[in-house]
Amino acid sequence: MDKRIILLILTTSFVYINCKDSDQKIYEPTIESINYGSIVYASSEVNCKNCHGVDYKGKGPDAKDLDVPVPDLTGVIAPEKTPLDYFKAISVGTEKTKKNGLQYHAYYSLTDKAKWALANYLYSLAQQPKTNEEKKVRQESLAKAMKEVREIYSKNRKWYMGENTPSTEREPSPKLEELIQKTNFKTEQDISVKIPSEKELEAVFVARQKYEEGYHIYQNHCQKCHGIAGEGVQGSQFLGILDHSRYDAIKGIARRKPAFVGIPPISNNVKKEDVIKYHSYYLTEEQWNDLINYIKAITE
Ligand code: HEC
Ligand code: HEC
Repeated sequence: MDKRIILLILTTSFVYINCKDSDQKIYEPTIESINYGSIVYASSEVNCKNCHGVDYKGKGPDAKDLDVPVPDLTGVIAPEKTPLDYFKAISVGTEKTKKNGLQYHAYYSLTDKAKWALANYLYSLAQQPKTNEEKKVRQESLAKAMKEVREIYSKNRKWYMGENTPSTEREPSPKLEELIQKTNFKTEQDISVKIPSEKELEAVFVARQKYEEGYHIYQNHCQKCHGIAGEGVQGSQFLGILDHSRYDAIKGIARRKPAFVGIPPISNNVKKEDVIKYHSYYLTEEQWNDLINYIKAITE
């Protein structure tokens, strides 16, 4: 046989086997998936049982704080219900799972695999439909839902629902961008911590004797970001969680973001104006003088 034909057969069969192996069927109620669902449910991280209870009957300790009843997941459910309804309820919540306008039932941090495992596991706990009429409705609903599910996963690895858009498509937060643009933070900078030299530590010691108040202000307010000797922080320094009020909740889901930046060394010819350009510190003129003199002394 022509060598090229053998090669072609080899490659096609290889590709075929490969496709089969990597087929995404995370939505199927396999034994592994159901077992995994029970483990995720029980983990305290996601706290499902706080409302749904250890017996799935909806009598968990947090259930009584809600205005709506938590359903008994082991009870009778509508014949139209499918695991897809469960998946959606866990992914984006329902109309009823809101408190003070905030959606608390959208578990964005769970993977699709975990959400399907939960959906299939919890769905398996419900009573089966009894009458033939109900059984027929259930079969049709399942067929319709699973067709939709298969279609989605034939194109995507993850089902983006609600506001859970891929980070690349999300609008960056303007406030955070602004803050980060004010700094000279470059992601390609190495993350490293600079340890002050003997000489720098000596300068700090001497400056402290001379500018006692400046030393205290610097130590209490500036050092955590700008370093012991004004050396700054390379890489990423956690600036804090941006204030809740600065972010509008997106469709009822509050979003808070941490801000990380790199901080360059403070220059030796620092002026009060350089500081207030970035920060709002309310100090007396005397305190400003002492602080600036202290910084000059340690950055020499
Ligand atoms: C703060 C309480 C609370 C927590 C925590 C909670 N749930 Fe619920 N859950 C509810 C309420 C209330 C409903 C009823 C919603 C409705 O009727 O629309 C519900 C409904 C459901 C349903 C049924 C949806 C349907 O279509 O019938 C499923 C499945 C579910 N939750 C799974 C979970 C899972 C999984 C977790 C943990 C990841 C969880 N819940 C955590 C309160 C909670
Ligand atoms: C929460 C962290 C933080 C604290 C606390 C802080 N700074 Fe800053 N500071 C920054 C950041 C971030 C910048 C912007 C750096 C840049 O330009 O990249 C900055 C900028 C500056 C600049 C301007 C640097 C330049 O390149 O011109 C000076 C001077 C300065 N800070 C002094 C101070 C002093 C003095 C204090 C204490 C009174 C203080 N900072 C407290 C984070 C902080």
